[in-house]
Amino acid sequence: MSDKPWAGRFTQPTDQFVEEFTASISFDQRLYRYDIRGSIAHARMLARQGIIGQDEAERIVFGLNEILEEIEAGKFTFSVSLEDIHMNIEKRLIDKIGPVGGKLHTARSRNDQVALDIRLYLRDEIDAIVGFLEKLQTALVDQAEANLDVIMPGYTHLQTAQPVLFAHHMLAYFEMFSRDSERMREIRRRLNRLPLGAGALAGTTFPIDREWVAEQLGFDGVTRNSLDSVSDRDFAIEFCAAASILMMHLSRLSEELILWSSADFDFIELSDAFCTGSSIMPQKKNPDVPELVRGKTGRVYGNLVSLLTLMKSLPLAYNKDMQEDKEPLFDTLDTVKGSLKIFADMIAEMKVKADRMRRAAARGFSTATDVADYCVRKGLPFRQAHEVVGKTVRYCIEQGKDIPELSLDEFRQFSELIDEDIYDFVTLEASVDARKATGGTAKEAVAREIARARQQLSG
Ligand code: ARG
Repeated sequence: MSDKPWAGRFTQPTDQFVEEFTASISFDQRLYRYDIRGSIAHARMLARQGIIGQDEAERIVFGLNEILEEIEAGKFTFSVSLEDIHMNIEKRLIDKIGPVGGKLHTARSRNDQVALDIRLYLRDEIDAIVGFLEKLQTALVDQAEANLDVIMPGYTHLQTAQPVLFAHHMLAYFEMFSRDSERMREIRRRLNRLPLGAGALAGTTFPIDREWVAEQLGFDGVTRNSLDSVSDRDFAIEFCAAASILMMHLSRLSEELILWSSADFDFIELSDAFCTGSSIMPQKKNPDVPELVRGKTGRVYGNLVSLLTLMKSLPLAYNKDMQEDKEPLFDTLDTVKGSLKIFADMIAEMKVKADRMRRAAARGFSTATDVADYCVRKGLPFRQAHEVVGKTVRYCIEQGKDIPELSLDEFRQFSELIDEDIYDFVTLEASVDARKATGGTAKEAVAREIARARQQLSG
């Protein structure tokens, strides 16, 4: 006789390759803890409602707890012929406690069971991701605070634009990751509804108490439509969308770290622990970790597109196609968690080369806008001021001079409005500190944001 719980209506065994092809146990076994937790709550509810006996529920719960221990101790043998985690556990339960184990699946289907398991699992994983994000954000704020005086070139088009504080640059990423964290928490809130009780698709004939199970499992309520409960995976898709945005942010930071570690920029040094060497060029120290995270961003985008494509046009309700939801989701989770963890440690250990950043900030006429703003304050319309400073910069290029090196006479060739006090405006510090409004790069504005970030992290 077949070991399959559904073998009753079949006369022939499953083709062996089909068995392997249709099985999900190789990847859905990671849901075991959530499958058992859901089953325990379900069994207790069945007894409370008088659908099974109290003693029967106790035996079921006892058996399930033993199975949990077996799996955790690595003593459980997963079987491909039992297809998935749900049937592997149910079969083992029946082997252990006898036919009463077969009562567990009353008023339930694998369709609502798997919808429950993924939600329980993803909920915990989102909490872990929010925790990893906080660690990375703390490392960014620590770097900002430790280097509050460091000035670097700010870029647009990757051309020197205006000087900014390195701390301001770090806090830009803090803001991005704050929004990522918010997105994750919103998705968690939306998915936190119990789908169990939907049965295969239409609900169940038994007098179950879904609200009680929801409460036992920490859900905020129950789903409202059985067809929807077993057939949508929008929560997994929106998680992958938020994960893609998060990875996009990480890929931009990666790109900057890679540029900054090059000999040409030389703004930072990553710890040896996060780099590797070359098998041929002895001098090389390659920023493999940020490069890989930049690369892994593509695979997370790919997972999002896989899920969207998987679900596109599927008729209601459950379709076996949906078993394919797990690998893209699991791969996304592993990739995002790994990337965040490694980034938090790497940023914490990153060395900042203040002198190199400062020297680069002084190049490229980064205080030209400050000269234009100066002329505007002396009464010149901004467009004319722009023209004046443009000519000044051209003169500097021809003379091989920097803006602060010009004599007052040289400045005045371009505008009579320029006086001795111009030199108070063209230093890097003056340029940075003039931008005091909320969100600007002035030291006092950045210090305020550091304090606010700390408060956010501790709140
Ligand atoms: N392993 C299946 C999945 O992941 C569980 C649900 C199977 N339901 C079914 N009717 N075959 O989707």
